[in-house]
Amino acid sequence: MKRIISVVGARPNFMKVAPLHRAFQKYSDRIRHLIVHTGQHYDEAMSKVFFEDLELPHPDFYLGVGSWTHAQQTAKIMVEFEKVLVEHKPDLVVVVGDVNSTVACSLVSVKMGIAVAHVEAGLRSFDRSMPEEINRLLTDSISDHLFVSEKSGLENLKREGVSEKKVFFVGNIMIDSLIHFREKAKLSNAAKNLGLQPNGFVLVTLHRPGNVDEKKDLETIFSIFKKIGDTATIVFPVHPRTRKMIQQYGLEMNGKVSKRVRLLDPLGYLEFLDLMQQSRLVLTDSGGIQEETTFLGIPCLTLRENTERPVTVEVGTNEICGLDENLIVRRSKEILNGNSNTGRIPELWDGHTAVRIAEILSAHLL
Ligand code: UD1
Repeated sequence: MKRIISVVGARPNFMKVAPLHRAFQKYSDRIRHLIVHTGQHYDEAMSKVFFEDLELPHPDFYLGVGSWTHAQQTAKIMVEFEKVLVEHKPDLVVVVGDVNSTVACSLVSVKMGIAVAHVEAGLRSFDRSMPEEINRLLTDSISDHLFVSEKSGLENLKREGVSEKKVFFVGNIMIDSLIHFREKAKLSNAAKNLGLQPNGFVLVTLHRPGNVDEKKDLETIFSIFKKIGDTATIVFPVHPRTRKMIQQYGLEMNGKVSKRVRLLDPLGYLEFLDLMQQSRLVLTDSGGIQEETTFLGIPCLTLRENTERPVTVEVGTNEICGLDENLIVRRSKEILNGNSNTGRIPELWDGHTAVRIAEILSAHLL
């Protein structure tokens, strides 16, 4: 019996490991798939609800690391994860995405001679001020199997000198979850319960330090809300980091920004997917949401200077706007008036990515 350990830590990891866990069940007589949760995200709304929504089993190991500085968080994850590897000696470790848990666990594994598979490899924003870019570069440089979601990833890894033998273009695993849970998400009735009109509201998510840590940037964001709020209702489930900063700066909360801006607590996977499917426009600084809106054909304005997911701009619905208030307000109003492009679905974003990965890894291990 071979043993694979997959790592989850933060909110965007859960929807990437859920389809893999399902796909590995086909090999359950020969491969045991275990899940480690580092506890990087720990609030019920940032973690537990995702296990329920995505039908993930309880993690086999919970490291309970929590929020710290980057160095402390990464180091604590490494120390705790090493103990799991020493005791359980897996044949392979799977890491996903680009969060601190991803780089911490891949580093521990390779140093113990355990092979690492990185799902969502090769993405590059070329912006080293983003912690995620450092995590991506480091993880890819030490991984043994690199699973790529879009063609730009193949080019980036080739340019960095990664052997082609290690690299597999398999499509986007997050879209596996979206396709699998799309209908179930509708049954959550989240939009209806909030009194939102289908195709009649703007959905916002913002949590990047580059957007929410400085008071002047948050003020720009609230000013944008005020201007768009004249035209459409804005729904904004607020990440704990963003809420903390809004409170720290004493900025106006619910109701006061504008009657048409609704600040909510973070939502679960199904509720958020229901809202996204029914929204008319999405404003975000998330990586995954740029991809989900591209798949759904929903217009997306990305409040960042760059993206590590260029296919969402080249063939999808995504537009990169930085924090340019005039541009964001103008494009939002144009899109709300019907001037948007629908885009296309990128290659291999077809719901079968996890099956492809499980086939490749099982053939390698067995
Ligand atoms: C992390 C990831 C980021 C990802 C994001 C998704 C890194 C470097 N960043 O950023 O790539 O897009 O997750 O959400 O790994 N907090 C809570 N409860 C929680 C989690 C966080 O209150 O369950 C608060 C804490 O105040 C914490 C802050 O949010 O200090 C930031 O959390 P952290 O995990 O360090 O980074 P994120 O900003 O969530």
